[in-house]
Amino acid sequence: MIRAILAHDKDWGIGKDGDLPWEKNPEDLKWFKECTLNSAVIMGRKTWESLPFKLPKRSNIVITSNYDYEWPKVPDNVFTAQIKQQIVNLNYELPVWIIGGAQLVHSCLDIIDELWLNEVEGSYDCDTFLDKELITEKYSAESIDERDFGTITKWTLNEKLS
Ligand SMILES: NC(=O)c1ccc[n+]([C@@H]2O[C@H](COP(=O)([O-])OP(=O)(O)OC[C@H]3O[C@@H](n4cnc5c(N)ncnc54)[C@H](OP(=O)(O)O)[C@@H]3O)[C@@H](O)[C@H]2O)c1
Repeated sequence: MIRAILAHDKDWGIGKDGDLPWEKNPEDLKWFKECTLNSAVIMGRKTWESLPFKLPKRSNIVITSNYDYEWPKVPDNVFTAQIKQQIVNLNYELPVWIIGGAQLVHSCLDIIDELWLNEVEGSYDCDTFLDKELITEKYSAESIDERDFGTITKWTLNEKLS
């Protein structure tokens, strides 16, 4: 099972100026932590650079196409080639969560079984978006959970349902 977990606004925006567009919500962060603890968290290079530190108690894996990239911090692992196969192989050892951003999620849609998306209230003039059209074409909403910090929809890959 390979899952992705992200939050988006009403326009499916996820980022602005290389960061989250909204004030961090402790309840949302708690939910994210509970879901991803003791797993591998896989992220694109830009998301990695937006983090203040390595996410604790998780294996931090960063995806880049640049073999010579100089890391501002030290992740646990870096995938620079055959990314999808490496993610699939890793999934046999640890639960895998792809945590963004949009570019990485879009390039991995064929291997992501479930997308757990939290829709936060409002619209935040984002510059980075999930492709709503593509996602709603390839995935079906399996469950919807209203929380104080947003509405969590679990989207399942249609191929898994057939
Ligand atoms: N709301 C949320 O839940 C959430 C979650 C995560 C991130 N974000 C936000 O989203 C924004 C960043 O997202 P983004 O879409 O711009 O960037 P991203 O996906 O985090 O990172 C893009 C970079 O990752 C590498 N990459 C991604 N897919 C690859 C592939 N298939 N093969 C090789 N390399 C690959 C490339 O690095 P190189 O250029 O080094 O090759 C690419 O430039 C930030 O604003 C961040 O705060 C929001």
